Amino acid sequence: MTVKSTSLLIVDDEEVILKLFERVARKERWTYAPARNGVEAIDFLTKNDVECVVLDIHLPSYSGFQVLEFIKATKPSVEVVIVTGMGSVEQAVQALKLGAFDYLSKPFADMDKVVSTLRNAMDKHRLVRKIHELQRAEEPLEGYQGIIGRSKPMQEVYHLIDSIKGSAASVLIEGESGTGKEMVAKAIHRTSKRAKRPFLVINCAAIPEGLLESELFGHVKGAFTGAIADKRGLFEEANGGTLFLDEIGEVSPAFQVKLLRVLQEGEYKRVGDGEVRRTDVRIIAATNRDLKTRIEEGAFREDLYYRLHVIGVRLPPLRERKEDIPPLAYHFLDKFKERLGKSIREISVDAMQALQSYPWVGNVRELENVLERCCVLLGGDVIRAKDLPASILASTFFLRDQEEVDLTRFPYKEAKLRALSLFNKSYLQHLLKQSGGNISVASDRAGMDRSNFKKIIRKYEIDIREFKKG
Ligand SMILES: Nc1ncnc2c1ncn2[C@@H]1O[C@H](COP(=O)(O)OP(=O)(O)OP(=O)(O)O)[C@@H](O)[C@H]1O
Ligand SMILES: [Mg+2]
Repeated sequence: MTVKSTSLLIVDDEEVILKLFERVARKERWTYAPARNGVEAIDFLTKNDVECVVLDIHLPSYSGFQVLEFIKATKPSVEVVIVTGMGSVEQAVQALKLGAFDYLSKPFADMDKVVSTLRNAMDKHRLVRKIHELQRAEEPLEGYQGIIGRSKPMQEVYHLIDSIKGSAASVLIEGESGTGKEMVAKAIHRTSKRAKRPFLVINCAAIPEGLLESELFGHVKGAFTGAIADKRGLFEEANGGTLFLDEIGEVSPAFQVKLLRVLQEGEYKRVGDGEVRRTDVRIIAATNRDLKTRIEEGAFREDLYYRLHVIGVRLPPLRERKEDIPPLAYHFLDKFKERLGKSIREISVDAMQALQSYPWVGNVRELENVLERCCVLLGGDVIRAKDLPASILASTFFLRDQEEVDLTRFPYKEAKLRALSLFNKSYLQHLLKQSGGNISVASDRAGMDRSNFKKIIRKYEIDIREFKKG
């Protein structure tokens, strides 16, 4: 992602104000961008580096306060100057408490003051960023709060969690199954001011719709068959703490409305009860589906999405951060060898290469399972390529693996799979070696059509460049 830097972002729904600041920016030679509402502002801030934001408190879609909170939670070094109406001192004070740099009152009587305020805000931003860069130049973190991984996207996740410590804003965690969404949710809770209060989890997809409502909001005696007594819901139990709504993409439109109400007003009713109750719960939601697509399909409410997505965390699939595989593999190796009382020392180079070229559809959870299985089955003290499951060997290809594979160690079915995959790899490897990496020549010799041949090469993750070198 390329990040452009913008000196000034103006968020206001009045054209005259936008024009006014455009003129100022041109005169001062500041790069400038306008946004007409909160959604546009947040969208711009997510995609760009901004030094200073001039933010109207009264905005359509999200209030200025919400945008301010978003900025302070996700990009605290961006300085915010709030614009209030005349005489709204209270709002100005509240904005300063939330971390705004300064405020200006409309109409602007003294333009010199406006310019100097913005100039000071930008100076402060540059200073803070400089300090931050110096700190970041240090060694990357190997992990954070028990989350392992040193890849760049994971560094960003750690920095984000760290930077939202002081916020209670909703978080939406998106990522494929097994990428660590629940781990991240726990880390966010543990580092927040709510750490001493409960962290409760509910899997929205695993509970039937009717029950889900009573689980979350509670019910009164006699509300439905089987409701033999009053019951508190998770929103009540988690009061002051965090509620993790897993697989949020699955809930029905009717239920989405009820969720929206708690998120907006902090209010809910127990099933079968008229009394409106209040709760103070921080919501972290997770999904392995693309909610933007669900919105387009009409299956997910856009307003709920924005309520949940005040802060967004995207966990990349493991295959996109292969450098995390070795530290994760050793982390799980240590965990399981200790649990099983085994003395496994290391993972061979070939085995690690195989692990790194496997696509890991089940992500970290699948890697964890593979390591557990290896630790259970292994007699020796080194995990070698031949000790890995056939499924991993079948989809990987490693030239340097010269280890003898004793197939009689495996049941017939698995032995056959392993033999087949070894044969396929070695056959393709020899053909490509002979043809100097020329796919047309190699596929011709194999009596296969070129596109099929290419498909198989891809399946075994063979890099034909290796054969072209000589
Ligand atoms: N970065 C990581 N470091 C250490 N362990 C991890 C990491 N990511 C995931 N795990 C482990 O992998 C397993 C799956 O993680 P988690 O349950 O958080 O994933 P998830 O994204 O919620 O998965 P699902 O979508 O299947 O619910 C857990 O046992 C967790 O401890
Ligand atoms: Mg999960």
